[in-house]
Amino acid sequence: MFKKLKAHWGVNGINLLLIITTFALGGSLCGFAGRKLLLLTNLEKGVAWVLLYIILVTLLWPLCVILISIPLGQFAFFKRYLIKVWKKMSGRRNSPPLKKNEIRVAIFASGAGSNALKITDHFASSPVVKIALIVCNKPGAGVLDIAAKNNIPALLIDKERFLKGDNYLPELESRKIDFIVLAGFLWKLPVPLIKAYPKKIINIHPALLPKYGGRGMYGDRVHETVLAAGEKESGISIHYVDELYDHGEMIFQAKCSIDENDTAGSLAQKIHALEHAHYPRVIDSLLQK
Ligand code: GRF
Repeated sequence: MFKKLKAHWGVNGINLLLIITTFALGGSLCGFAGRKLLLLTNLEKGVAWVLLYIILVTLLWPLCVILISIPLGQFAFFKRYLIKVWKKMSGRRNSPPLKKNEIRVAIFASGAGSNALKITDHFASSPVVKIALIVCNKPGAGVLDIAAKNNIPALLIDKERFLKGDNYLPELESRKIDFIVLAGFLWKLPVPLIKAYPKKIINIHPALLPKYGGRGMYGDRVHETVLAAGEKESGISIHYVDELYDHGEMIFQAKCSIDENDTAGSLAQKIHALEHAHYPRVIDSLLQK
């Protein structure tokens, strides 16, 4: 049950405990504040008192939960939760009816999601390309907030099912996904998924492949290795995905220079700037082919 709850809400175990604590503390605070407010009315305990108490508690409860969620570090979760509830109440559906000739893109990402955001912004007003799904394997990842804010359905995936089960192919099929963009997704894709999307899955790597790629080469480790090798330049590589890490056919590369004072952090910033400038544009031109 715990596992199901974690998957449903897209959170890890610690988050789940903190969320339950937030609900409990929020409830107590709300009961306490409700009683204090009723004291101000000088009402006798009776039917009117109970009715007013119920109304106060109903109004105060969400506010108290939100307040408590801030010091417990769960504000992002409750914001997502409220957006969901609001959408349900206002009758807005997660997935509007499919349009004819629409190209439906799924972004697989598990980090902060800065690339996912740039791609989403790029296609926000496109009449043809729709970012239809964000697939994530990390509860609490920043990209889940981006999905919620931009009204994009998010799918939190389980390792066992992704790698050894149905690979979530039925999910992708039912959502009519045509093209997959990896943007900070660290699991190797299972072969049936790659076969189901021939030349329709691309990845971005924060270095100039074929050097500095492969298993374990992600994040700052890539930049540290590039700096340690004394390279004078680095860059980005956008490539089709095949069965090996960072290996498929190259689509596009862009370079930046490395200065003497560069650190992994400063190099990461240069690389991110290149990624943001080129990834959405390259995806756009591939989808127009
Ligand atoms: C990018 O640097 C990308 O090259 C790599 O993962 C990082 C994702 O960053 N594959 P962000 O989450 O999009 O900010």
